[in-house]
Amino acid sequence: MSSYIDAARPETAPSETSRFRPAIHFTARNTWLNDPNGLVFYDGVYHLFFQNNPYGNVWGHMSWGHATSRDLLHWTEHPVAIACDEEEDIYSGSVVVDRGNTSGFGTAEAPALVAIYTSAYKTASEHSGTQAQSLAYSTDAGMTWQKYGNNPVLTRNSANFRDPKVFRYEGDQGSCWVMVAVEAQHQKVVFYRSEDLKSWDFLSNFGPANADAGEWECPDLFPLAVDGDPENIKWVLIVNVNPGAVAGGSGGQYFVGNFDGISFTPDPGSVTAPEGLASLSQPAAASAALQQCLWLDWGRDCYASVSFSNVPDGRRILIGWMNNWDYANELPTDPWRSSMTLAREVRLTAVNGSARLIQQPVLAGAPAEEGLPTAADLMDADTFELRNSALRLPDAVPGSALIIEADILPGSAKRFDVRLLGSSDASKGIVLSYDTASAQLVLDRRQSGNTGFHGKFASVESVPVDLENGVLKLLIVVDHCSVEVFAQGGAVVLTDLVFPDTDSPENWLSVEEGSATILKLAVSTLF
Ligand code: FRU
Repeated sequence: MSSYIDAARPETAPSETSRFRPAIHFTARNTWLNDPNGLVFYDGVYHLFFQNNPYGNVWGHMSWGHATSRDLLHWTEHPVAIACDEEEDIYSGSVVVDRGNTSGFGTAEAPALVAIYTSAYKTASEHSGTQAQSLAYSTDAGMTWQKYGNNPVLTRNSANFRDPKVFRYEGDQGSCWVMVAVEAQHQKVVFYRSEDLKSWDFLSNFGPANADAGEWECPDLFPLAVDGDPENIKWVLIVNVNPGAVAGGSGGQYFVGNFDGISFTPDPGSVTAPEGLASLSQPAAASAALQQCLWLDWGRDCYASVSFSNVPDGRRILIGWMNNWDYANELPTDPWRSSMTLAREVRLTAVNGSARLIQQPVLAGAPAEEGLPTAADLMDADTFELRNSALRLPDAVPGSALIIEADILPGSAKRFDVRLLGSSDASKGIVLSYDTASAQLVLDRRQSGNTGFHGKFASVESVPVDLENGVLKLLIVVDHCSVEVFAQGGAVVLTDLVFPDTDSPENWLSVEEGSATILKLAVSTLF
């Protein structure tokens, strides 16, 4: 097995696309990545395993790559953690800390980390043609991994049974491991339970419901206190769908409801189409209904989001893959291809009586440590008015990401634009607009630079956003080839990749037809 990985992709020279390499988003050094896997916090370290091709920068030879971070912004890549071999590819899954040594892989004093991953069996395997769930374990805090000898531990003789997310359930049904996985082509989340991670009993199914035009992949299930109230716990079920997401192609939807240790029951308000949208015969009705579903992200490039296990203080932190299967293999970067989204801390808040997710990027770094880079404020402005005019923002310092925080009172303006990574003549850039008449936030990357590498890349996405007391609050992170927008405190998130064809991109605010008031504007950089 190690010889397999020794033959991995040789060192490649930096290419001219290195200007797209992000500063605070994880990319593999010179290979391909997709879904985040096995996210776990252990001993002060965040571990990010990921779908990785150790041999090249397109999808294939799926193995678990590995990176670690103490602040969720700066990552160190390590050797491949779990490698594919002649019989299986290693598809997505999760990692738990086996505190009670239920699996026997560690000891009570030194718990093993246990990975539950999907074996995608190849022709050389007796299980050829099926996807089943397998284990690997680490007794050195996640740095090296052994495959369990009796894999797979759970099979349904299905070709599309994958992406297990395992967590410790403590509740009315006692204490046990619970697995959520998918029957991808049947748009079903399947629930299992186990005492020892090795033997699993079926609990229930959920789905199809809401967005079900594509395969269901990479589910997650976790409890959160609504507005921090420990008496009001709701469960969030994440179901990624590809294709058929609201912005086209890949995306993540979620449901809010209850999990009683056996089955998930969604709150009525979180299910617009109980039988699924694919059953709606009118495309217009289906597309309108898609807008009513709950989405983690309304942009084109946030997929396979799942959460960390074992994070203290009840915090729930997600990372997604910042890409879309529509064009993933063709992104114009070399030698690496693809990155993760920023880590996003999620909370539940009541909106008109229904619990909804809000997301904040983790920018402060946690735990704080001496020597970590800090945000340096470049500019603060008092309230001012923009009338049919434009304001140039400071540039990002080379090699840094730009963090823009703006509270805007659109007032009489017809449209308020934030043009990012653009040219000085305003003809180029990715444009985030707020259209006051339609109350829509629109992200348009049609003139953003290199869009021609794939016919589906040029795109415009829009999402309804209500002003709060007349105010639009934006937090935008721009990092070389990506824009992540957190609007209204993270109630709405939009993530898009962008490949500007200028070496000195400019960022502008502008107002069309009327005047808007900037109540707050802060621009800072993160290295
Ligand atoms: C999602 C996915 C998963 C699968 C993995 C394979 O992007 O298709 O369902 O486990 O990627 O790389």
